[in-house]
Amino acid sequence: MKFSTLTLIAGACAAASLPVVNTTGNAFFNSETGDRFYIRGVDYQPGGSSNLTDPLANVSICGRDIPYFQELGLNTIRVYSVDNTQDHSECMQKLADAGIYLILDLNTPGASLSRYDPGCSYNAEYLNEVFATVDEFANYTNVLGFFAANELVNNEDTLDTAPYIKAVVRDTKQYLKARSYRQIPVGYSAADVSSLRKELADYLNCGNDSDARIDMLGVNDYSWCGQSSFTTSGYGQKVQMYTGFSVPIFLSEYGCNQVPGARPFTEVEAIYSTEMSPVFSGGLVYEYTEDSSNYGLVQIESDGSVDPLKDFDNLQKELNSTSDPVGAAGFSTSYVFSDCPTDWNFSITVPPPPDGLTKLLKDGATAGSGFEAETQEACGNDAYYVSSTVVNNATSTSTSSSASASASASSTSSKSSKGIAGQLEAHGFTAILALIGGLFFY
Ligand SMILES: *[C@@H]1O[C@H](CO)[C@@H](O)[C@H](O)[C@H]1NC(C)=O
Ligand SMILES: *[C@@H]1O[C@H](CO)[C@@H](O)[C@H](O)[C@H]1NC(C)=O
Ligand SMILES: *[C@@H]1O[C@H](CO)[C@@H](O)[C@H](O)[C@H]1NC(C)=O
Ligand SMILES: *[C@@H]1O[C@H](CO)[C@@H](O)[C@H](O)[C@H]1NC(C)=O
Ligand SMILES: *[C@@H]1O[C@H](CO)[C@@H](O)[C@H](O)[C@H]1NC(C)=O
Ligand SMILES: *[C@@H]1O[C@H](CO)[C@@H](O)[C@H](O)[C@H]1NC(C)=O
Ligand SMILES: *[C@@H]1O[C@H](CO)[C@@H](O)[C@H](O)[C@H]1NC(C)=O
Ligand SMILES: *[C@@H]1O[C@H](CO)[C@@H](O)[C@H](O)[C@H]1NC(C)=O
Repeated sequence: MKFSTLTLIAGACAAASLPVVNTTGNAFFNSETGDRFYIRGVDYQPGGSSNLTDPLANVSICGRDIPYFQELGLNTIRVYSVDNTQDHSECMQKLADAGIYLILDLNTPGASLSRYDPGCSYNAEYLNEVFATVDEFANYTNVLGFFAANELVNNEDTLDTAPYIKAVVRDTKQYLKARSYRQIPVGYSAADVSSLRKELADYLNCGNDSDARIDMLGVNDYSWCGQSSFTTSGYGQKVQMYTGFSVPIFLSEYGCNQVPGARPFTEVEAIYSTEMSPVFSGGLVYEYTEDSSNYGLVQIESDGSVDPLKDFDNLQKELNSTSDPVGAAGFSTSYVFSDCPTDWNFSITVPPPPDGLTKLLKDGATAGSGFEAETQEACGNDAYYVSSTVVNNATSTSTSSSASASASASSTSSKSSKGIAGQLEAHGFTAILALIGGLFFY
């Protein structure tokens, strides 16, 4: 009796929320049904880096787009930057009502780690911004995970920033505990640097300090181009390579556009197949909104209306005709965390936290500064870029997306000691362009 009264009260007061998705072994599970959860998602940042906008703070943006997510049959979106001074309750509720989870990157252009001087950028003001974002989102049951960083390591020369990724993972997990939040998975979204794929993944998942290990790994992967196959694309090799990795892995960006015409998205059949499911848990297509880089599924017209492109139709058809694998589908709880590397030419020790951490854990973060934050001003602000893409494909290595980005590259490239070809300053934030041996970022 008591139980049902409480249930009724709870039902009457609380808006509908989605069951928590959490991780067991190397897979995600719906905590109510016990079913495996496969990410069917898109990357979502309308405006991109040139018109940075928090799409979850404005119901006329999220409310416009959620019906299209539903048409695609999505269960997850990834957002690269939000404004932690804004209220997100309406959009989070609309997403929950539509059955959609959020994977959220915790950084903003002004509050992120710097590749030039990660030690300088890893400061208490920065952590306060990260934690203010955690405070804003941690209560929602449809937050699937947080990314502590995106593509910070983008070549061999920047591998020495990796200990700082682990530091932010550790601090964020400690904050969730200290503030009695749900233990939301905290992970990293990796650039596809072929020589580093496995060793970086292993490093992020190594060591006895479980707080400093990622709970999930996103890999940005553009290797399946056009009518490719499990073997030709390299997906097969990646399944082999990551077999034994102890936490969930998913494609945090996919959708190569280096083939003429609309993308056929035939990789969907592979991604949700039992060839992939022992290692991978779905993925997110890059990206919802069309811009100059031509990865969009929809065009947002100047009057604000949404015009689905051929890519949208193709993806919808592929997703709709491809079901999730049934049952356990090869997931495992018997893998253990990775061994730490022994042959790196710099210290792999995770840096100790800045002095202010103890107070942040004890008292909580103070109000964030949103897109105004400037926590690494003095450190070389190159590391962050919204809606990044990496195309690891020989045909794309000499491509450049934008004349203005190319033009600005030469004026700033002298600053680079780490192989960054250039950076683009615009509209009060920093985007970067890097063309580095086979990798293409903007
Ligand atoms: C999974 O989710 C359920 C429901 O919220 C929670 O009670 C449980 O502690 C979670 N398990 C893990 C391992 O996080
Ligand atoms: C920037 O984004 C906002 C919010 O979506 C939109 O209203 C505005 O038109 C965009 N501005 C430009 C120049 O595209
Ligand atoms: C919300 O987004 C709409 C559509 O882009 C825009 O016109 C409006 O100004 C935005 N509202 C706020 C408060 O930013
Ligand atoms: C999250 O829940 C806690 C405890 O109920 C509450 O104090 C806090 O204000 C909530 N935060 C947000 C952003 O709703
Ligand atoms: C470590 O070796 C790599 C690859 O040889 C090199 O690019 C990098 O600069 C070296 N890093 C340090 C800190 O010496
Ligand atoms: C982890 O703990 C084991 C056993 O206590 C110890 O032998 C090993 O050196 C530790 N490894 C690291 C990376 O700290
Ligand atoms: C890059 O994509 C093109 C078009 O699909 C393909 O022909 C080529 O083999 C790919 N190259 C690599 C290195 O994957
Ligand atoms: C395909 O669409 C139909 C009709 O909307 C729906 O019932 C079905 O669940 C969808 N299948 C998948 C795998 O999304």
